[in-house]
Amino acid sequence: NTGALWGGRFASGPSPALAALSRSTQFDWVLAEVDLAGSRAHARALHRAGLLTDADLATLLAALEAMAADVASGALTPDPGDEDVHGALERILIERVGAEVGGRIRAGRSRNDQIATLVRMYLRDHARTIAGGVLDVVDALVDQAAAHPDAPMPGRTHLQHAQPVLLAHQLLAHAWPLLRDVDRLVDWDARAAVSPYGSGALAGSSLGLDPEAVARDLGFTTSVENSIDGTAARDVVAEFAFVAAMIGVDLSRLAEEVVLWATKEFGFVTLDDGYSTGSSIMPQKKNPDIAELARGKAGRLIGDLTGLLATLKGLPLAYNRDLQEDKEPVFDAVNQLEVLLPAVAGMVATLTFHTDRLAELAPQGYSLATDVAEWLVRQGVPFREAHELAGACVRACEAHTPPIGLEELADAELAAISPRLVPQVREVLTVAGSIASRNGRGGTAPLRVVEQLASAGDAAAWL
Ligand code: ARG
Repeated sequence: NTGALWGGRFASGPSPALAALSRSTQFDWVLAEVDLAGSRAHARALHRAGLLTDADLATLLAALEAMAADVASGALTPDPGDEDVHGALERILIERVGAEVGGRIRAGRSRNDQIATLVRMYLRDHARTIAGGVLDVVDALVDQAAAHPDAPMPGRTHLQHAQPVLLAHQLLAHAWPLLRDVDRLVDWDARAAVSPYGSGALAGSSLGLDPEAVARDLGFTTSVENSIDGTAARDVVAEFAFVAAMIGVDLSRLAEEVVLWATKEFGFVTLDDGYSTGSSIMPQKKNPDIAELARGKAGRLIGDLTGLLATLKGLPLAYNRDLQEDKEPVFDAVNQLEVLLPAVAGMVATLTFHTDRLAELAPQGYSLATDVAEWLVRQGVPFREAHELAGACVRACEAHTPPIGLEELADAELAAISPRLVPQVREVLTVAGSIASRNGRGGTAPLRVVEQLASAGDAAAWL
């Protein structure tokens, strides 16, 4: 096998069982494009160090570029005998330019520094796609919020009616965590923008190569300070997997609300036909499968992260073959998010909100009781007492059959609870009044939510 990257000290070739275990081309071929870019940068470094003639460099660059085109077109694929993407591409290079020139490319590099570099290149590239996908979900939330600037809904804690809020406020509450996730990807990228190329197997190179030049050639800001760290570290991969899992979790919390909102019992939203599914037996069904898959994939993304962390735990420095197990989980995380995000963005963008239903439910469950308590506070009553009195109002309402609303308590009933509960208290017993009164920074008052809409839009545009 001309592609074997090692063999000089071995009397026999690998057993079939080893070859089957060792092979990674079925998942690392996606790195072929960045591997070839790395080889081009490395060839230039060898040339600058006087280790390649002008003619050899030209031959190698031309062949590497032709190979990149063939990888892109699908014409170039690994052979069953290739151990990994690096070995496969070196084999093909030598087949194309001969061993005299092709055999020079491996000087001063190892698959250990190569793979550490290529994973970062791959992830940096996909981080941009994923950030774009997350921002599309944010845009969909912001657009829905903007389309419903003063629609109230029941705000919940413990899934129980708590206080009325604006639908726009609730939707933006899902946008902010996603904006922070994009911010996390941006922060992560600064740490990922450091190239391990030139670390060699672990100790660096004796050949006078310039890792910083290679790094800049490959779009990194600099190269690693420590070659052992460069080849052994995978915290950058784990951190990416964390951000991916966090995105999954944030989408999942939105998804769970959509699942609930789309039920008959809630009746808050109708899903667009293009973003919901039917049942094979029940003709009437319209299912929120996108939201459910978002919930399900969050679990899978958490698994990708925890599997990776478990692989890293306890690994001695520097490179160990265990590190090959970093790729499938993190590639899976990339693939899942890239297929999930457009579906979630479309689902959110096409939701129809039933604002009448939301408005009708907003005051139910005595969600204005806090407004009674706070009104009493403004009249000079200590909050502790005000809380008790408002609670007594709820109890008085529930004593009616059927129970009545707070605003329906008679003057005498109010006065019996406390002389401080004069009829004017009813002025705060409207949903619109309650919402408008929560007008501090970050509150649900329409004035504040309009400001919030603008800043979420700005944040999304800036990121
Ligand atoms: N395929 C390996 C990986 O994914 C890189 C090759 C390093 N192999 C080795 N025997 N040093 O990490």
